[in-house]
Amino acid sequence: CGIVGYVGDQPALQVVLDGLRRLEYRGYDSAGVAILTEGELRLAKKAGKLTNLEKALQDEPGRFDGGTGIGHTRWATHGGPTDRNAHPHVSSDGRIAVIHNGIIENFARLRATLEASGIEFASDTDTECVAHLLAFEFAVVGDLAEAMRRTCIQLEGAFTLLAVEAGQPGRVVGARRNSPLVVGRGKGENFLASDVSAFIAHTRDAIELGQDQVVTITADAIEITDFSGVPVTGRDFHVDWDLAAAEKGGYPWFMLKEIEEQPQAVADTLRGRLGDQGEILLDEVRLTDQDLRDVDKIFIVACGTAYHAGLVAKYAIEHWTRIPCEVELASEFRYRDPVLDRSTLVVAISQSGETMDTLMALRHAKDQKARVLAICNTNGSTIPRESDAVLYTHGGPEIAVASTKAFLTQVAACFLVGLHLAQVRGVKFADEVGAIVDQLQAMPGLIKRVLSTMDGVRELGRSLASQSTFIFLGRHVGYPIALEGALKLKELAYVHAEGFAAGELKHGPIALISEGTPVVAVVPSPAGRGFLHDKVVSNIQEVRARGAMTIVIAEEGDEAVVPYADHLIRVPRTPTLLAPLVTTVPLQVLAASIADARGHDVDQPRNLAKSVTVE
Ligand code: G6P
Repeated sequence: CGIVGYVGDQPALQVVLDGLRRLEYRGYDSAGVAILTEGELRLAKKAGKLTNLEKALQDEPGRFDGGTGIGHTRWATHGGPTDRNAHPHVSSDGRIAVIHNGIIENFARLRATLEASGIEFASDTDTECVAHLLAFEFAVVGDLAEAMRRTCIQLEGAFTLLAVEAGQPGRVVGARRNSPLVVGRGKGENFLASDVSAFIAHTRDAIELGQDQVVTITADAIEITDFSGVPVTGRDFHVDWDLAAAEKGGYPWFMLKEIEEQPQAVADTLRGRLGDQGEILLDEVRLTDQDLRDVDKIFIVACGTAYHAGLVAKYAIEHWTRIPCEVELASEFRYRDPVLDRSTLVVAISQSGETMDTLMALRHAKDQKARVLAICNTNGSTIPRESDAVLYTHGGPEIAVASTKAFLTQVAACFLVGLHLAQVRGVKFADEVGAIVDQLQAMPGLIKRVLSTMDGVRELGRSLASQSTFIFLGRHVGYPIALEGALKLKELAYVHAEGFAAGELKHGPIALISEGTPVVAVVPSPAGRGFLHDKVVSNIQEVRARGAMTIVIAEEGDEAVVPYADHLIRVPRTPTLLAPLVTTVPLQVLAASIADARGHDVDQPRNLAKSVTVE
């Protein structure tokens, strides 16, 4: 979501709307503002793009004059993208308005407590809890910043919050945990925003807030404290990016920014998924546990990168649940007249939730009485709406056409679905599931580590920019990763690239290898299923013996690959099934750097669309 707050002598409405326009790329299913005017809180919010809100505001000139305001563009998490779910959310007395970016994990519990005390909710969002909690605390302490601190310590999850109170014009209070918030320092005016692009038309002096901090801005002052009220100093920095670079967080391409966001995105997918009894929680479930126990066959349907996530999922789902699981290209599914009935579970994976091939596969499955579970990044889109259960990936908007963070979050979400099924069916107990979730929780940190070692891969990419063919190899979950690595390269660099199951190579594709052909091999962990590892090492030797230039992705400490690697890319040790969450990353970086070196638009490759709504 995009968040803006302003205090100063310019018309706040204009500053906030301009800021929101700059942030619209972060999410755009609804927008809203709250402006403090004449001791009152004036609110406007609308589903749809920012222009819908702007049009509504044009009908009410003068009503929104004032120098203090907050604004929000939403990317729905809890609650569909409607007017009533749009931010700001207000307390029951209409005096406090709140906007929020992130997910409040314990919102169901908070809501139940608030409702028990007689509060009526006006939306389905997790955010509205915060408005009511703030009002309660404000009534006790009479100070908005202190009320915010007392509220934040009751919240679990990730959030950036901004709040205003009707009786305190000239004051916006913000808070941050795990979601971004920056302060823009102006002269006689100050700003708050989820990123600097919202205010660099006004100031380039910024302060980054640390974790678990609360900030108050007035026209002339910025006060920051931790959640217990101890004053702290933020990190000052000067922004020298131009507007276009600022939107991309200083990266030349959205794709590079999205690659860097992957640790956070995967953490957001996993956040709050374990219930009090150690059970896995999905988002919307219109199926009974008995329906899931009755499942005797799973089909995963998806397109493009999402299909590759499905291929990874197959290994985990079959291993954990012991239910046969097939993965199908959505565009093929219904045309081959698959055998489906009410004990078939169809898992539709789609970032956009609008891909027509996937939607048609889903509808076909429903016609045949199969149950459908969607894994999707876009709240309120068609595919989750038409499904019986949903798990949202919460990866945040993905702008670059070639999918990166959506892929990792889809893989993580598939793991959760696999664990959920295993649990409901009694194949795995809460403690076993908890142990795997712990391993999953460690993955964002490992992805971050991979990202910190990518300089060599970028350099390698530049040195390979003139190659005309690439081959990618992998086994087990490394096989879909080989396919995904090849797809990224095709999409971005327009280079011929193919992914193969490493063991299949000798049955044909090995004929493609000639002197110097680059072959990228994804090597499984030598621990756990060591036989897989040794087989792939043999496959690398086979291609090298025929002249291939080998680019080997292997775990730290795997010395067996060293003699056969012309280029070696290291990834941290991971459990075998979870390895795709790290091995994919260097392949994304490699493809982007080859494309960049070839002078291509990395975000908008030729001939491709982000969301394909035709069959
Ligand atoms: C398009 C995009 C791909 C994406 C595929 C599926 O072809 O270019 O990057 O993987 O659609 O998209 P979805 O939104 O359904 O995940």
